Amino acid sequence: MLPQQRLELAIDIAREAGEKIVAARHGQAFNQQLKNGQELVTDVDVAVDTLISERLEASLPGEQRLSEELAPDREVMSTAESLWVIDPIDGTVNFAHGLRHVAVSIAWVSEGKTRLGVVHAPFLGETYTALYGQGVWCNGKPIHTSHRANLQRCLVATGFPYRRDSRPPLIRRLMAVLEHCQDVRRNGSAALDLCDVACGRLDAYYESVSPWDFAAGVLIAREAGARTGHLYPCPKGIPEDLYGENILVSAPEIHAELGDLLRAADANELRYD
Ligand code: IPD
Ligand code: CA
Ligand code: CA
Repeated sequence: MLPQQRLELAIDIAREAGEKIVAARHGQAFNQQLKNGQELVTDVDVAVDTLISERLEASLPGEQRLSEELAPDREVMSTAESLWVIDPIDGTVNFAHGLRHVAVSIAWVSEGKTRLGVVHAPFLGETYTALYGQGVWCNGKPIHTSHRANLQRCLVATGFPYRRDSRPPLIRRLMAVLEHCQDVRRNGSAALDLCDVACGRLDAYYESVSPWDFAAGVLIAREAGARTGHLYPCPKGIPEDLYGENILVSAPEIHAELGDLLRAADANELRYD
């Protein structure tokens, strides 16, 4: 199937998944559990992931998938020639609390490069789509990043891992950004943070996340003109498009300066009066 046809399929599936998410919220009858002792998951996350997988399997039988709620095997990131990467609900905590910052994220990666990305936000009525080298759209209209060059005027998004013991070093980054940029946002959906960078509402986003959180969003941001990358070198063997540690995605003008600031925070080199 051609990439354009794959994109259309992914959009159709994401919209159906979005309808299921909206219906589940209106029904208000879903169970919540903790995964690995601290990560919230609802039975809607699992049901939507199952729906997406079944629809992909029906149209493209046998193609490999890495999806958050269906026992993901991260090994496939190094071995698969072609891979669907799926987050059925990005923003599960938002979903469970009745907030609207929730998205379905579907990406297709082949030969180590993300070829297409769909991020669909059913409560916001926004569908972001991107095709490698061919452009990016929100609800069918082309989008682009901001071109803010002055760090002090930049609005920066980030997030925090569920594992509480990995949070303290991130507070140093937060202090640095609060001191040197306009402000920080923690909106609770990595996929939508990246889309907000893509359409210039946010100027930058940094975090360490799983492949399904950012695979689609990072292509959307890149196709919109963002500079994408990592604060530190990536290990060999995993495509960079799927390596989620220490990612920094921003308007091109501020990428280097913000990267330096975050690394200085990591090294504890910054002092505040
Ligand atoms: C989470 C969201 C959040 C980010 C977390 C992710 P989930 O995904 O993207 O913004 O800060 O690191 O795990 O659990 O809602 O799919
Ligand atoms: Ca996620
Ligand atoms: Ca999720």
